[in-house]
Amino acid sequence: MVPDLNRRDIVKLGAVTAVSAVACSSTGTTGAGSQGPSAPQNQLRTRICDLLGLRHPIFQAPMAKVVSPALVAAVSEAGGLGILPGIGVPPPMLREQIREIRTRTQRPFAVNLLLHEQMQAPVDPAQVTQSTLDAVSGVLNRFRAELGLPAKHDRPPKIPDLVGPSFAVILEERVPIFSIGLGHPTPEQMERCRGAGMKVIAMAATLADAKVLEAAGVDVIVAQGGEAGGHRSTWVKRPSHEHAAVGAMVLVPQIAAAVKVPVVAAGGIGTGRQLAAALALGASGVHMGTRFIATQESIAPDFYKRALLDADGDGTRLTDAFTGMYARVLRNRFSEEYAASSAPVLPPVLQQLLATDITATSEKQGRGDFYPMYAGQGTGLLRELPAAGDVVRSVVAEAITTIANLRAP
Ligand SMILES: Cc1cc2nc3c(=O)[nH]c(=O)nc-3n(C[C@H](O)[C@H](O)[C@H](O)COP(=O)(O)O)c2cc1C
Repeated sequence: MVPDLNRRDIVKLGAVTAVSAVACSSTGTTGAGSQGPSAPQNQLRTRICDLLGLRHPIFQAPMAKVVSPALVAAVSEAGGLGILPGIGVPPPMLREQIREIRTRTQRPFAVNLLLHEQMQAPVDPAQVTQSTLDAVSGVLNRFRAELGLPAKHDRPPKIPDLVGPSFAVILEERVPIFSIGLGHPTPEQMERCRGAGMKVIAMAATLADAKVLEAAGVDVIVAQGGEAGGHRSTWVKRPSHEHAAVGAMVLVPQIAAAVKVPVVAAGGIGTGRQLAAALALGASGVHMGTRFIATQESIAPDFYKRALLDADGDGTRLTDAFTGMYARVLRNRFSEEYAASSAPVLPPVLQQLLATDITATSEKQGRGDFYPMYAGQGTGLLRELPAAGDVVRSVVAEAITTIANLRAP
């Protein structure tokens, strides 16, 4: 049965489809919360639109080294929610990026941090045993040799708290929406967001974690299906890649039935038909990552975009070899040869730090075979490189048509 809250969304959809809206032309710059009696009919208005001031129930996922302020602004201007990735961005640069978004759009946007335990209190590299370090370096040095890089045997550097200073910038800049991946907010963090007048959205990959997020008081929960590109949204590393990897078709209705706050579906989603399906599963919208990597505004390297367009849905795998946390990536020589080596991986983030030279050189050489190309199973649906705003508009238009056709006698 469709839960009550979502039945309300469907009723609103009914009103929209009754006027047979098939295309969205709403690209204006009206401020947040502009929907109302005079709002255009060719939109899907759900609970998250009212709550967050959006025209369309579409979130663009935060993605480091993919999403720029320009991409965030393009999505927000088109009526969706652009989300800026904040983790790993030096705080002064994060502040500049937030200000740049504000020069490009007056619409709501979000800034994301990963609240994973080991982002806030990273493991001390001194705790890594020499034999583990040697085994990891052994595999990485094979990749270095291929790229013409010198072998390395160094311990990764000690890293600071990656969350505290960035969170302070987000509060000071009074960003409209704080987005959380891989963690849950503390009561103090929630209180500070409320004090700054901010809404909070957070992502979970399991029902149990979604309940933790609801208890923490977040406004919206993103249900991340196992199809999703990038890291599994868990706050501690799970025992294997098979944990926290429930498909969205199963996860979304479970979470939607269990929590009172709106739920947004994520994982392999890139089309309007999938948005319509997500609404039918009880979601109030979709959160799309991989779809936005293959856009004109995305700052991902060209080889990465090309690889996405060429891949089919079977071209991805879950691996912890790139960062120490499980993530879905396009299979390449790094992911496959690391797995075949049976070498251990270092704790979260240290694994990534140890391979920084490999990633940078792969990018410089335009080679995707040793570069982390995070991607979801929706790769098989991507065949062109549109502008980000057109993605928002076409996904909404297709969803409206799909729903209208489902209702036809
Ligand atoms: C390249 C890439 C980078 C990502 N980085 C982040 C991030 O910094 N923070 C976050 O909360 N989620 C991140 N994610 C996960 C997304 O929020 C989302 O769960 C995922 O993209 C949805 O699946 P899809 O890519 O199949 O659409 C990333 C995903 C990708 C593909």
